[in-house]
Formats: sequence, C-alpha cells, structure tokens
Amino acid sequence: MDRPKILATHRLFEGPRAKLAEHFDVEYWSDSHRPTRTEVLRRVADKDGLICLLTEKIDDELLAAAPRLRTVANVAVGFDNIDLDACTRRNVAASNTPGVLDETTADFAWTLLMAVARRLIEGDALARSGEWKGWNLDQLCGADIWGKTLGILGFGRIGRAVARRASGFGMRIIYNDAIRAPVEVESELTVEYQERDAVLREADFLSLHVPLLPATRGLIGPRELALMKPTAFLINTSRGPVVQEAALVAALERRQIAGAALDVYEREPQIGHGLLRPNVVLAPHLASASLETRTRMAMMAVENTIAFFEGRQPPNILNPNVWKK
Ligand code: GLV
Repeated sequence: MDRPKILATHRLFEGPRAKLAEHFDVEYWSDSHRPTRTEVLRRVADKDGLICLLTEKIDDELLAAAPRLRTVANVAVGFDNIDLDACTRRNVAASNTPGVLDETTADFAWTLLMAVARRLIEGDALARSGEWKGWNLDQLCGADIWGKTLGILGFGRIGRAVARRASGFGMRIIYNDAIRAPVEVESELTVEYQERDAVLREADFLSLHVPLLPATRGLIGPRELALMKPTAFLINTSRGPVVQEAALVAALERRQIAGAALDVYEREPQIGHGLLRPNVVLAPHLASASLETRTRMAMMAVENTIAFFEGRQPPNILNPNVWKK
C-alpha cells in the first residue's frame, strides 16, 4: 500500500522529521521564509495530511484545493488560523499542540513583563551606544514588580503558569475568566477571582492569556484601557487581535497606561508604527520559542498525524465529531 503523502509547511526539527520518515512520504517547505498562499495551495493539492504552522490559513478554499486531505495538524496551541467548521464539513480531522508550551510561554510573559517594567531594552541600547556616562541616581528608573498586583485575563493552563511564577515576587494576583477556576486552584495559586473591570482597574501588570475567539476579539479597547491605572503595563502573549492596536497606541500617546510589552500583533508580521516607542517592548511572536518546546510541539503534531493514519483518534483532535462519524 502506498504510504500517505504529507505536506509539512516547515522543515521541522530532526527528531520529528525522523519520526515522520518512518511512516510517510513527506514534502517539506524548507525555505527560511514562509510559503505564500499560492505555494501552499499548489503543494497540498495531492496530499493526504498537512502539518502546518499558524501562518497558514486553513479554510474552505484550501480544503477544496486538497480533495484527498484527511488531517491537518497545527504546530501551535492556538488554532484561530483553522476554520474548524469547514474541516468538520469536509471530514478533515484537525489537531493542535496543547500543554507542551504552557511553561515556556509563561516564562516569556514574565520576560516581557520584567523587561518593560525595568526598562531593559532601553538600558541595553544605552549600554551598547558608547554614550553611557556611568551610574546615575535617576537613570532609567522603571517600576517595581515585587509587591504589585498582577492581573490575568484568561486563566487556563498558561494564565495559571504565569500566576504560579508571581508568588516569588510577593504579588497580589487577581484574575478573570469566563469560567471561574476551582477553589482548590485559587487557594493553591493564591489568586482572587474578580470581575473583568475590577481586574483592569486594579492591575499594575495586566497579562492576557485568552484564546482568540469572537468573544475575545478586540477585548482590550478604549474603554478597557481607560479603566487601567496610568502606572499599569499591558503584557500580551495571547493573540494580537485581542487588543485593539489603534486604541492601545492612543492610550500610550495619552499616557493612559505606563507601557506595554507585546509578542503578538493585530496584523502580523506588521507592527503599527505607533507602537515603536521606548515604553513598549516588542517581540516577534516568540513566547513558545525555546528549542525544547518548539521541538516538542512539532513532535506532537507528528504524533497526531501518525495516530490518524494508524486509525487511532489523534490525541489532540479539535473536532472529535469527525472521528465519531
Ligand atoms: C503560538 O502562538 C501558539 O499558539 O502555539
């Protein structure tokens, strides 16, 4: 029997690649830049399975262009790039990579938080510039982190991992989520559930950990930013469109908040010019980017694909009703 044909829109890493080779005929996209839409549509046309990144839009058009396609494995936990209904209609099993990137993403939310609070990027620029004239009492004074209030919107695995890290800083931690966490979790992490507006009002650092859904698109807009303290910082490692970027720029211009640290943007890879300010730390969507974690994510997508073609339900299937059909 012919081996299933897979398109991987990235060359992945050595371990996942070796595993794929045991099971499939794989065509890789190996260039360092991302493939164009046309390129993906062309290459996927005769494939049985697709392993893709969040830069690929998996919609009806793509599925129609790939009549043999039966499974799509996203190498990401977020799956707002996938039209799940379209996949289900066409009997295509979609999967993602939850769980393996929580701690790494939480580490990065803290990296951003600390960098913006303590003005690390400005300090680095000064240190490299040759202009540093030595220690000075009021030089690049930032904001304390310890003892402050951390507000978390979205209290799933990543939000909780961010909260766990705050205890060493002696912070008060408040959160909001559509679903309140069990009391045991709240007491273990010493967090308080608050209404969303209360979190916005009281947080010194507001960190976003919601998935991108119709209900969370534009969640942070002019009204929400106006509720925040003028001394507060916004940290976003979730998805760009959760924040209304124009409103954020306006709030920064008016000094309605003290600063922001962003890993994600409304229209990636574009970054609005209004965000290029000293009190904004900018990262190019790196939160899960440790070599260990990215390798685990790729391996998980490979395992989801193998399971499918071995007749097992992919462990991280997103539309299990396809499986039951
Ligand atoms: C990265 O943003 C992911 O969703 O895994």
